[in-house]
Order: sequence, then C-alpha cells, then structure tokens
Amino acid sequence: MRISIIGTGYVGTVTGACFAHLGNEVICVDVDPKRVESINRGVPPIYEEGLDELLKAHAGKNLRATLDYDYAVSNSDVSFICVPTPTDENGKIDLRFVREASRSIGERLKDKGSYHVVVVKSTVVPQTTQQVVTPILEEASGKKAGLDFGVGMNPEFLREGKAVHDFMHPDRIVIGGDDPKALGIIKGLYAGYTCPILEVDTKTAEMIKYVSNAFLATKISFSNEVGNICKRLGIDTYKVMEGVGLDARISPYFLNSGLGFGGSCFPKDVKALIGKASEIDYEPILLKTVLKVNDGQPHMLISLLKKHVPDLKDKRIAVLGLAFKNDTDDIRESRAIPVIGSLLAEGAKVAAYDPMATDNMKKVYPNIKYAKTADEALEGADACIIATEWAEFKKLDSFKSMRKPVVIDGRRMVDPRGKDIIYEGLCW
Ligand code: UDX
Ligand code: UDX
Repeated sequence: MRISIIGTGYVGTVTGACFAHLGNEVICVDVDPKRVESINRGVPPIYEEGLDELLKAHAGKNLRATLDYDYAVSNSDVSFICVPTPTDENGKIDLRFVREASRSIGERLKDKGSYHVVVVKSTVVPQTTQQVVTPILEEASGKKAGLDFGVGMNPEFLREGKAVHDFMHPDRIVIGGDDPKALGIIKGLYAGYTCPILEVDTKTAEMIKYVSNAFLATKISFSNEVGNICKRLGIDTYKVMEGVGLDARISPYFLNSGLGFGGSCFPKDVKALIGKASEIDYEPILLKTVLKVNDGQPHMLISLLKKHVPDLKDKRIAVLGLAFKNDTDDIRESRAIPVIGSLLAEGAKVAAYDPMATDNMKKVYPNIKYAKTADEALEGADACIIATEWAEFKKLDSFKSMRKPVVIDGRRMVDPRGKDIIYEGLCW
C-alpha cells in the first residue's frame, strides 16, 4: 500500500519505518527540514531502539521524507495524521496541528482522482475525528467523507524506548471507522498481525486510547498513594504490590511506586480527558486526584531529603537521572524537573547526570552542573537523588566519594544492603 505519514515525531517516525518494514511504500511529511533531511539520510531524528536499523534498511528505497504535501498525498492512498496534540494553558487539548494537517490533506484531495483514506493516529479527545477532522477535510476538498474519501482513527499504544517493538508486537490493534470501506482498507494494513483487531467507531477508538493511558496513570498514582502509606508504616510497597499483582484481575504491571509518571503521554492525556469531561459538565474527581498524587511525589522526595539535610542552601546535591524514564533521551514532564526546581529554590547546588537526556535538560536548566558520569556527580556531594530508573544505577558503588553518603531513591534502583550509606526509599 502507498502510505503517507503526516508528522514524524516518536509516533510518526516509528509508524512510517515499521510500515515500510512491512513492505509498504511510505512517504513521511514534516514541517521541519532537519527531520526530513535526517530521515532521507537514514538517520532517525529521535532515539528509539531498533529504529536505526529500519531507517538504514528502507530510507531511499520504500521510505522517504519530504516537506511537500502535494507530493506525499498525491503519491499515497492512505495518510496517517501523527502530529502533536499538546494541552493548552487550561489543560484543554490543543488541536491546531490536527486542524492544519486536516486542511493541508483536504486541499490535496480536491484534485485527486483516486479514493484516499485519512487516518488519525495522534491522540485526540473523543469526537475529534468526526467533529473536527472530517468537516475540515470535506470543506477543504469539496468532497464527501464516506463517499469520495474515507476517514478512520487508529490509536497507537507505543511506549517510548520500546516503540518499534510495540508497533510490531501489539497487545491489540484498534481501528475506528465510520464507513466500512475505510475500515477495510485500514484493517488490510495490519493483515499479517495475529493479535486481536478491534473494529469500532471513531469516537470509541479515541476513547480507548485515553482510557488506556488514564488507567495506567491511575495504577501508578494508586501505587504511590499506597507507597506513601506503607512508607509511614515501615512496610515495603514493592513486597505489597508483588502480592497484589499476583491477582490476575490486577496484573503485576505498572505497580512500581516512586517519583511518579512523566512523559509526553500520561500527564497530557489525563489532563485532556479531564478537560473533555469538564466540557461536558462532568467532574472527574478520580482523574484529578491521579494528577494531584503524581504532582505530590517530587515534594515527598524533597521532604525526605531534608530529614537528612535540613538546610539545603549551598549543599551539593547529585541528581542521577533526568529522562522521564530509562532508555530515552526524552525529558518531557520528567519528574526530575520539579525535583531540580525545588532544590534550586532552596539554594542547593545541583550536579546532574543522565546517560542520554543531558542535552535536553540543559534547555530547561542551563545553569546547573552536568557530570559525564554518575561517579563524577557523586563526588563531594552532600546527598544524591535517584530520579530515573536507569539500569546502570543498580550498579552504583562510589558513594564513598560523597561528603555525606545520603541516598534518596525515587526509583528503587539502589540496594542499600552491604553499603555504608544513609538510604531512604521514597515509598519503601
Ligand atoms: C470483590 C473482589 O473481586 C474480591 O477479590 C474481593 O475479595 C472482594 O470484592 P466481588 O464482590 O465478588 O469481589 O466483586 P466483583 O464481582 O469482582 O465486582 C466488584 C464490584 O465491582 C461489583 O459491584 C461489580 O459490578 C463491579 N465491577 C466489577 C465493575 O464495576 N467493573 C468491573 O470490571 C468488575
Ligand atoms: C505510555 C504508554 O505506556 C504507552 O502505551 C502510550 O502509547 C504512551 O504512553 P510512555 O510514556 O513511553 O508510554 O512511558 P511508560 O513506559 O508508560 O512510563 C510512563 C511513566 O510512568 C514513566 O515516567 C515511568 O517512570 C512511570 N512508571 C511506569 C511508574 O512510575 N511506575 C510504573 O510502574 C510504570
């Protein structure tokens, strides 16, 4: 099939590369010339495990990138909209990029002789495909959806760092379509998959995406609430959740308590769902609390630190981990951001280290010290904070170089047994 991908961020680049890997002709469109040039050179514009190999194998063959909408839409039969859907200052979803992409595609459909399907893959609140995307496509093309062209919604469930794996090995594929022809064509793209393929209408597909993320975020905040209780009772939350997670109805996944969830999805999607609920006069008490608990964890950690270092002024604090999770360079909504913010507000001197995300964090905090190794960050430190679950932190043993070996672990990376350190687990 001839596919065009609109927007080559995490979702778009991975989706494009994987569809090329499945034998489709893929044209990626992006407004950023650097990303386009990078993809055509076979170099991924973002770090994702396995993406490098895919681009090397397909770039210039059945995968290319362009700035040119005309070229992309006229040389494809299906277009996936993978543009960002940030939340605005009121926490409401900002659909301006989706609107623009819909208009740009619509204008190219005007003179297109053959049938074309437009598929929303960006995370959009329910009813967006029907009430925003479709009307814009019809107005811009002067054509009728469900007749002259098709519209669908196909949410992604890709985890950063594991996105290529998740695309090729999904737990399920959800296809939303309001006309059978479009549904059939989208389903055809996943012909080789053996996982369940759920066919629903577009707003149900949109809601499945939000509820999946909101539920995973709720599991994490629930685990953190339990963690905060267990911490005060001297109970190890991870032992508790091991017992709880053995219940098949609960499952052991996403029960890791600690510093909370970050990333480009969970915070944004929960906020957008809250925004949508408020729009229709429903007070989403539980979802609001999920965010409240999450926002509280960095402050819990700082209070724990101050138990051992009451006055942080001019103290040197090592912050290990800046990315919002391991195996990515992405710092969006990373919990390390509010942690460093609080430390600086208390007058502390921060020495930060991350295997991958330092350059991105320098854009947020240009004036703190960035170490090249964890050991360098620990040198002469009055305390250290573990903020991201990088596997290398499990092997840390250079606490002796610290001025005071206080270790506040927000991600259960350090096993204190046999180490001469003052250790505090955030929820254990
Ligand atoms: C529950 C737990 O399942 C059990 O492990 C615990 O020991 C006691 O409470 P039960 O009361 O039989 O047992 O509940 P269940 O049939 O699982 O449902 C609990 C309630 O949740 C019911 O009112 C049910 O309607 C509701 N429910 C259940 C949902 O609303 N959604 C679901 O997906 C499952
Ligand atoms: C998530 C969803 O997993 C994915 O399906 C969706 O498409 C996009 O959003 P991602 O944001 O990449 O993916 O990260 P994920 O691995 O889900 O972790 C999210 C955050 O939760 C991270 O900050 C992580 O540290 C935190 N987390 C995760 C916990 O605090 N505890 C856990 O048990 C699991």
